[in-house]
Amino acid sequence: MFREGFVWGAGSSALQIEGAAAQDGRGLSIWDTLCRRPGAIANSDVNDVCCDHYNRMPEDVALMARMGLKAYRFSVAWPRVLPLGIGKVNEAGLAFYDRLVDELLQNNIEPWLTLYHWDLPQALFDRGGWLSPEIPAWFAEYTRVMVDRLSDRVTNWITINEPQIFIGLGYREGKHAPGLKLSMREQLAAAHNVLLAHGRSVEVIRERAKKAAHIGWAPVGRVDYPVTETAEQIEAARRSSFGITEKDFWNNTWFGDPACLGHYPEDGVKLFGKDMPRIEKGDMETIHQKIDFYGVNIYSGLPVRTNAGGVAEAVPAAAGAPATLMRWSITPKSLYWGPRFLHERYKLPIVITENGMANMDWVASDGRVHDAQRIDFTRQYLNELARAGADGIPVDGYFHWSILDNFELAEGFKDRFGLIHVDFATQKRTLKDSAYWYAEVIRTNGDHLSDASPFAAASGATLTGAPGRKGVIESKPGARKPAAILPGGR
Ligand code: FCB
Repeated sequence: MFREGFVWGAGSSALQIEGAAAQDGRGLSIWDTLCRRPGAIANSDVNDVCCDHYNRMPEDVALMARMGLKAYRFSVAWPRVLPLGIGKVNEAGLAFYDRLVDELLQNNIEPWLTLYHWDLPQALFDRGGWLSPEIPAWFAEYTRVMVDRLSDRVTNWITINEPQIFIGLGYREGKHAPGLKLSMREQLAAAHNVLLAHGRSVEVIRERAKKAAHIGWAPVGRVDYPVTETAEQIEAARRSSFGITEKDFWNNTWFGDPACLGHYPEDGVKLFGKDMPRIEKGDMETIHQKIDFYGVNIYSGLPVRTNAGGVAEAVPAAAGAPATLMRWSITPKSLYWGPRFLHERYKLPIVITENGMANMDWVASDGRVHDAQRIDFTRQYLNELARAGADGIPVDGYFHWSILDNFELAEGFKDRFGLIHVDFATQKRTLKDSAYWYAEVIRTNGDHLSDASPFAAASGATLTGAPGRKGVIESKPGARKPAAILPGGR
């Protein structure tokens, strides 16, 4: 089902798991600031401690090893390494990533490093942040520090996570840091700087990496998929997946086309009109760098079918249709059509850099976490990803979001995405049933997806592997009844 060497992973980001906000000389980030703004984060949660991963990293890597994870996607906290964003390097902060990478490699887990997962140094925000024309150079400097230190061991690099979201929610809607609601013109100027920063970063990695670098990025995948799979319906869904009809960033092409094709998409240019960013000579060359894979975060898609005019329209969800705790609709087909459409357009191998679901998980009276919904969600999505592979789409990897329950940004700690449960009061970790199940998927390179009773296997399984790739699952058939599937959402 999945090609040999398929990259089975899980992901996280520094801002959401590390904590240790004031430890070892870390500088402030724009998220530290947002957390202090009344009403910005649900329950007034703050990110100071999160999963305390900064102090518990070896324990967390040991759990990943027990699961047999082949790869781990993490991000570097820019202000931990460069407290003011540029200039003086904080050796203690840098040393943490050294230790993390070494620990991963000792456990045969490949590091996949994301440079920017949203925690911009506050000091750089104070100098203009993503609106400053200097930010591509700042980001290049930070990239250089990381590449010089880690590229003897790290080969997988992701420049930027979800530009659509940190510009759309951070600079447009004010829900994410830095919590701004700017004019369209300013939003587009910031977005242009993000693209330039991505391009400069790729250049630096290529120039300086000590080992051949495998470079990509991790935008959001907006997937409009055909309810009926006829040629006409597929074409309509493709057009709508790649069209820009609204003055916002909820699309693939505003970032994807410049980075991968070297120009802004025409429909967007027309729509944004006088608000278009200023494009200097050489900008598009800087932005349009060769990358090695198209990483994409896909959680949900929109089912569409054509109207009388032949244009794709959303098919409304049925009453009570499956949804996650955050009310994101459950649409496994997005993991078939997303990779397919994106590969056809950009001609790059696809890596699913995020996919997963928020659930109301808790430690049950038997001491375990029975997250049958997450197992079923992931199983259905992965089956669609396998179909894409079978149809010839080069899908190279899958990173489940997330390895640990964590700080879910504006939603605080209430919505749990982890394969591993975290008790935020005690920091105790508990592998959820989904972690046991995913370990078996990894061990069998996907064959376990066809197991007819995944819930029974997961809840009766024990990991017995020693640290390293040798993690084996022992199933105790009949040890427990299949966990009941609870209705999705609240
Ligand atoms: C994505 C983010 C990630 C996580 C998931 C649920 O938008 O990249 O940090 O919060 O959503």
